[in-house]
Amino acid sequence: MNFGQNNPCYELNLDINENYKTLVLSAFDELKDKNKKYLQPEATKKEFPELWNILGPLEPWFCEKVRIINHTTEDLGTSAIHLDVNEHLQYESTSPDAITQCALNIPLFEPVGDITRWWRQKNPDVIMPYDFWIGDGNSLETHKTNNNIYDMECIYEFEIKNKPVLFRTGIWHNCEQKAPQIRCMLSFHAHYTVDWDTLVATAKKYDLISL
Ligand SMILES: [Fe+2]
Repeated sequence: MNFGQNNPCYELNLDINENYKTLVLSAFDELKDKNKKYLQPEATKKEFPELWNILGPLEPWFCEKVRIINHTTEDLGTSAIHLDVNEHLQYESTSPDAITQCALNIPLFEPVGDITRWWRQKNPDVIMPYDFWIGDGNSLETHKTNNNIYDMECIYEFEIKNKPVLFRTGIWHNCEQKAPQIRCMLSFHAHYTVDWDTLVATAKKYDLISL
């Protein structure tokens, strides 16, 4: 299952140093009880510009709001198959239902064998971005994978390790954790008007992707 230049994710040659992790954890502590939709606090570039430095030449391609994840995927709902949407209003003045095409995740945990999978729909059903997940947006107890079953085929899988990864988030995907362990990770979304092919081509132009 390798599509060469058409993968739904690419590791990037960007360096994460220990100092960066300290910056992220300090921002998380400052924000954890505010600025959050569901569980993930949101940091803005205005308040925490140093968090954007890691993006290098790709910095202008990304929104000025980043999600700081410090949770299990089950708690976040991302263990269920889903499409990423604008629920954190990372695209200002745009519907929270707008689908986001590309994310750049910065892992700040030791790899533990977690697998992200991408799926292709094999039926004509109208499936909503979070049709495999239920939750009222407030209480943790309601965040659950539901039992909806649609015929889907797995088209790619990837284990996140120590490198930043570009993820195609506008097609069905989910993340399966080996064990329900808290993972610290930043998740940037590319601007609303940036499509996946353009972002991958740009990362290649800057020699951030080795194939
Ligand atoms: Fe996602």
